[in-house]
Amino acid sequence: MNSVDFEAVWNALPQPALLFGLDDAVIAANAAAEAFFSSSVAHLMRRRLGDFASEASRLADLAARARSGAVSLADRGIELIAPDGKPRTVDVQLAALDSEGGGLLLLIQPRSIAEQMDRSLTHRAAARSVTGMAAMLAHEIKNPLAGISGAAQLLEMSLGDPERELTTLIREESKRVEKLLERVEAFGDTRPRPKAPLNIHDVIDRAQRAAEAGFARHVRFFTEFDPSLPPIPGDPDTLMQVFQNLLKNAAEATPQVGGVIMIRTAYSPGVAIAGLGGGRESVPLLVSIQDNGSGVPPEIKPDIFEPFVTSKAAGSGLGLALVSKVMADHGGVVECDSEPGWTVMRLRFPVWREARSKVKETAR
Ligand SMILES: Nc1ncnc2c1ncn2[C@@H]1O[C@H](COP(=O)(O)OP(=O)(O)O)[C@@H](O)[C@H]1O
Ligand SMILES: [Mg+2]
Repeated sequence: MNSVDFEAVWNALPQPALLFGLDDAVIAANAAAEAFFSSSVAHLMRRRLGDFASEASRLADLAARARSGAVSLADRGIELIAPDGKPRTVDVQLAALDSEGGGLLLLIQPRSIAEQMDRSLTHRAAARSVTGMAAMLAHEIKNPLAGISGAAQLLEMSLGDPERELTTLIREESKRVEKLLERVEAFGDTRPRPKAPLNIHDVIDRAQRAAEAGFARHVRFFTEFDPSLPPIPGDPDTLMQVFQNLLKNAAEATPQVGGVIMIRTAYSPGVAIAGLGGGRESVPLLVSIQDNGSGVPPEIKPDIFEPFVTSKAAGSGLGLALVSKVMADHGGVVECDSEPGWTVMRLRFPVWREARSKVKETAR
């Protein structure tokens, strides 16, 4: 019988794998584990089982159960802490090894992009309840604000020029607050908007033309559209807000000279997310908006879709929160990828139900 080079097999495993001794110290780590934890074998071997767990009890409990029965156990959605301190959500399998005298094999299955997206959808649900509260508050502030602004207007009539400057300031600032409140209120509007089959290019076109005539006059636009894309279930008004917000952010990030925005559409199957009616839904229709601007500031990168997160002096931080809400209402998802010098926003939409079978036929 040929001898098997277990070392080579171990390192050829596509799954990150760690082997723990009886005392729970790492005694081996394969090449995939090195890559997964961005850490050398030597470094990993200085760690113990408990160092990897954010919820120490769950992993330890699994380990104890695997050892006591000398069986293999699996668990999903466990958070592992890498040596760099970053948590990663994974599925794990633990197997007790007879031969190693209490040794324990940990196989790691990194979570797919789609599952990570589901997680971001959960965050979004939490954000939405907060914004519901904010929307209520906004509504309550609007009435007294109208009173303040009305009173300033009355005062204005009986005042001289120098004082009038102040009342004008009151009115202008009230107007600004009112506008902000209106944007906050837009979140509280949870009425489902009717969706009809929509060619996404029509909305993109309209948003692009409006941008070119207004805030994006300094920017050169390039487009690469796939004209064969099927329709999506869409509400043109809210989607218009999505593209206006994304184009505005892109235009604001690009330099005054040499600013470029590239809009692409493509059919890109393979990504599924938790759908509106439960179950998984495929979101194959991809729209990406790329700019050559400064890039998202790293310190706010994880939070840009949360409301009130902004790096701009006069920013509201509501643009991307609205984008993310409207995308969720459409059964879609938005992600951001950015480095200094470029930013891409990717929108993924489902296909209009009646058009689905057709897509499959043509894709064959
Ligand atoms: N295309 C982009 N390039 C660089 N940074 C961006 C881009 N889009 C969004 N951002 C960052 O995300 C933040 C939040 O955006 P947004 O929610 O639209 O709020 P606001 O535009 O009012 O700041 C921005 O302040 C900016 O820092
Ligand atoms: Mg914005």
